[in-house]
Amino acid sequence: MAPKDQPSTPRHVAIIMDGNGRWAKLRGRPRLVGHHAGARRVEEIVEACTPLGVKYLTIFAFSTENWKRTQTEVAGLMRLFKRFISAKAQELHLKNVRVRFIGDRVRLEPRLQDLMDNLELLTAENTGVNLTIALNYGSRDEVARATKRLAQDVATGKLRPADIDDETLPRYLDTCYLPDPDLVIRTSGEARISNFLLWQSAYAEYEFIDTLWPDFTEEEFRKVLSRFGQRDRRFGAVKA
Ligand code: IPE
Ligand code: IPE
Ligand code: MG
Repeated sequence: MAPKDQPSTPRHVAIIMDGNGRWAKLRGRPRLVGHHAGARRVEEIVEACTPLGVKYLTIFAFSTENWKRTQTEVAGLMRLFKRFISAKAQELHLKNVRVRFIGDRVRLEPRLQDLMDNLELLTAENTGVNLTIALNYGSRDEVARATKRLAQDVATGKLRPADIDDETLPRYLDTCYLPDPDLVIRTSGEARISNFLLWQSAYAEYEFIDTLWPDFTEEEFRKVLSRFGQRDRRFGAVKA
């Protein structure tokens, strides 16, 4: 068991939802069928958060590297994001979920950007689960954009280089409102981070699980969380 002074439930869980394409391939279906099945899982996992005591959920929906995929897949994903946001906005709001997006919005089509802005506004006062959707997100891109703003503040005299410490950069990151993730889960058997929350996950616990994202159930989520409760997080210190 984890030491008594350590919370047994992660406050912030981040998920790299991987394996949609392989899930579809196994069924002889186009990759987009897998993405649609994956989107349906999102609702289940968001709903599971409150009873399980997870206050912040961050999900990786589209990376800055995913533009390298075929035009058909990228366009299908963008349609899916628009459809998901329009169809689920009211439901998420009624469930008291606060939704925010991280990533570079500028490259996304204006209609999608509007839907994202509106969902953030609609749910801005909600006090339930904090759902963050990473869309056109990449950590290196995020750090580059943050550094640019930080440099502007230095140039205009708002920030003195001598005052910069390890708490400065996070204030410029897209995730400035979020606590660091306690647990990062990646589905589909790949044991890599793929440019997700690099700075923020410095002390996160990781779970790489074989299940493909469209097969990831609430039941499995609960099991992963209970394993987290048994871990001994030391943050560099030695515990008695
Ligand atoms: C994750 O599933 C979803 C996105 C990256 C948009 P993948 O599409 O990467 O599925 P696999 O890895 O090819 O199976
Ligand atoms: C990471 O998955 C991005 C998302 C889940 C949105 P990828 O499938 O894009 O990652 P790689 O290419 O296997 O590293
Ligand atoms: Mg993948």
